[in-house]
Amino acid sequence: MSSTVEFEPDPNAELEQVTSNMLPCKLSDVVKQSLPKHVAIIMDGNGRWAQQQGKARVFGHKAGVKAVRRAVSTASQLGIESLTLFAFSSENWRRPDKEVNLLMELFFTVLQRELKLLDKNQVKLNIIGDISRFSARLQKQIATAQEKTAANTGLTLNVAANYGGRWDILQAAQKLAEKVATGEINSSQMTEDALNEHLCMQNQSEVDLMIRTGGDYRISNFVLWQAAYAELVFIDTLWPDFDEQAFRDALAIFASRQRRFGLTGSQIEEIRAI
Ligand code: IPE
Ligand code: IPE
Ligand code: MG
Repeated sequence: MSSTVEFEPDPNAELEQVTSNMLPCKLSDVVKQSLPKHVAIIMDGNGRWAQQQGKARVFGHKAGVKAVRRAVSTASQLGIESLTLFAFSSENWRRPDKEVNLLMELFFTVLQRELKLLDKNQVKLNIIGDISRFSARLQKQIATAQEKTAANTGLTLNVAANYGGRWDILQAAQKLAEKVATGEINSSQMTEDALNEHLCMQNQSEVDLMIRTGGDYRISNFVLWQAAYAELVFIDTLWPDFDEQAFRDALAIFASRQRRFGLTGSQIEEIRAI
């Protein structure tokens, strides 16, 4: 007679156990969410928007700020936990000096001008990226804005500035490598979780939905690790035209998708039915 205890495992309990190690929260919670906790947006198309009207690209960037305000307000009202906006990539330094300087100036002005309103609306501002390349004045403004909103409990607004997904992973790996070098941890403790703890936005949910405006189908070195299982929505609308309806449309597309996280469709249906 076999000594193995025979039992009928509860398939759902098993699934929950198997996946709980891989996901930021319980799988059943994740699949049941129709509203994303974390939305990341590649705000593209400012230049083309301006050019279509025979205007300089800068005009598009200024109009883009209004779309940012609308997106923040919509995300706040809907109760989305985190909104991550790609404002300036590590590759955008390659643009003409004039455009880069203008974008820096705009970033400074907007941070200064919008701070009160963000704070009033309980928005917590978090700049992600290598800010050491920015002017001392801009770095100071970033510190002021983050400190002022640090205790806010509403939407967490991550603004990616001089950000690159590869840079983010590399800086996290460097921090871990230093810990190994000093003997604080050994190399077998360099796990996904350990690396995750050193990434930007480490205390927030992973990206559920990534939207790109402007008609192109690429990620352009935006959040790579954190968006490993994000639903991708690409839309033709140019960023300055992205309004509340466009945001809601993208959320509706998200809600209609079946997220499977490596499981089969029927496994997901079983979990949904719990
Ligand atoms: C996105 O719009 C904003 C930034 C990259 C700062 P673009 O400036 O890339 O606009 P297009 O893609 O040239 O139209
Ligand atoms: C991505 O847009 C960066 C931001 C939106 C800030 P880009 O316009 O720089 O992307 P590519 O170069 O077309 O991929
Ligand atoms: Mg572009």
